[in-house]
Amino acid sequence: MTRQSGVLLAFLALLIFTTPFCANGAEGKVQVSDFGKTDDGISVQRYVLTNNKGAEAVVISYGATLVSLKVPDRTGKIADVVLGYDTLDGYEQGTSYFGGTIGRYGNRIAGGQFTLDGTAFQVPKNDGPNSLHGGTIGFNKRIWTAVDRSRADAQVLELSYTSPDGEEGYPGTLKVKVTYTLPAETNELRIDYWATTDKDTVLNLTNHSYFNLSGDASQKILDHQLVLHALEFTPVDSTLIPTGEKRAVQGTPFDFTKPTAIGARINQDDEQLKFGKGYDHNWVLERTEKGGLQLAAEVFEPTSGRVLEVLTTEPGIQFYSGNFLDGTAKGKGGQLYAYRTGLALETQHFPDSPNHPNFPSTELKPGQTYSSTTVLRFSTRK
Ligand code: GLA
Repeated sequence: MTRQSGVLLAFLALLIFTTPFCANGAEGKVQVSDFGKTDDGISVQRYVLTNNKGAEAVVISYGATLVSLKVPDRTGKIADVVLGYDTLDGYEQGTSYFGGTIGRYGNRIAGGQFTLDGTAFQVPKNDGPNSLHGGTIGFNKRIWTAVDRSRADAQVLELSYTSPDGEEGYPGTLKVKVTYTLPAETNELRIDYWATTDKDTVLNLTNHSYFNLSGDASQKILDHQLVLHALEFTPVDSTLIPTGEKRAVQGTPFDFTKPTAIGARINQDDEQLKFGKGYDHNWVLERTEKGGLQLAAEVFEPTSGRVLEVLTTEPGIQFYSGNFLDGTAKGKGGQLYAYRTGLALETQHFPDSPNHPNFPSTELKPGQTYSSTTVLRFSTRK
């Protein structure tokens, strides 16, 4: 054997031995493929993060959107537990924010108006009289730049976007970064957000995934059992703008301090439920002094045994019971998503905070760094 062929053989042997490990979970890199072109001809990529416990998260550069999230049920059967579309066109035409990164301002701003340092700003009214989820073209409809930041213990995808000064009426050039982290050995997806600005501004970033833990989006989410670690919620007017009050949940259909089926009280004769057409409200999370990541919500789906725990650094959570799904959104596998077949748990600052000085502030100033983290932790139980 010549020296060259010896080297070649050694190289081939190395390839054969290492390939299975590379293909498996966190040892490998995030896998990239093409997800088509936007109407404007911009290429969009699809990124697949995998781990050693059967979980898989798929994110696209359009909207930094989580398009699929697969986790095992109590028998080990893997299924996708989030709603979404099969094609880029679905996300471009869609109005439901499936899996999208929401900004600049998640949830509503009354009349699309707020005042900052004495200057009045008008942002688009795209939800009746109010502005919703960043305006006409929110962050969920922008193209993000993705970089693979995988480490030995996790696959990590970092997405960045620079929102120019004045975009959708908001002041300041906003540089935003979102990372999705899937650890090799635990079935949890961590979402970190960072942002900086060059002018005083407001922001409220979140992810708008709709979960159906049964893994079958033809099933309603009404049997999912929910816990929200909150003693108060922020009641709204008929256009879903908070009145400014923080109301005790005790004795109301908004009390999820103990595991309760979502459908148990959803159709009660309650003014707040009528305004939301079901649940579409912000809960004030019980947070301890020490801050950081704290448990906000737990969802249990009895048939599959899947459990989702949501941990966050945010002060609030919007629980939305999919009341606007009406069977017209053609989702993955051709599924028409019907009324209440997905639930969203949007970790956030409170809606319309710029107009409510008594709510935690959503202002960001030059020199400050916005940071926020939410973890979606999956497990199963009997
Ligand atoms: C949020 C809002 C809802 C609805 C959905 C998207 O959850 O609070 O009112 O707009 O987004 O349809």
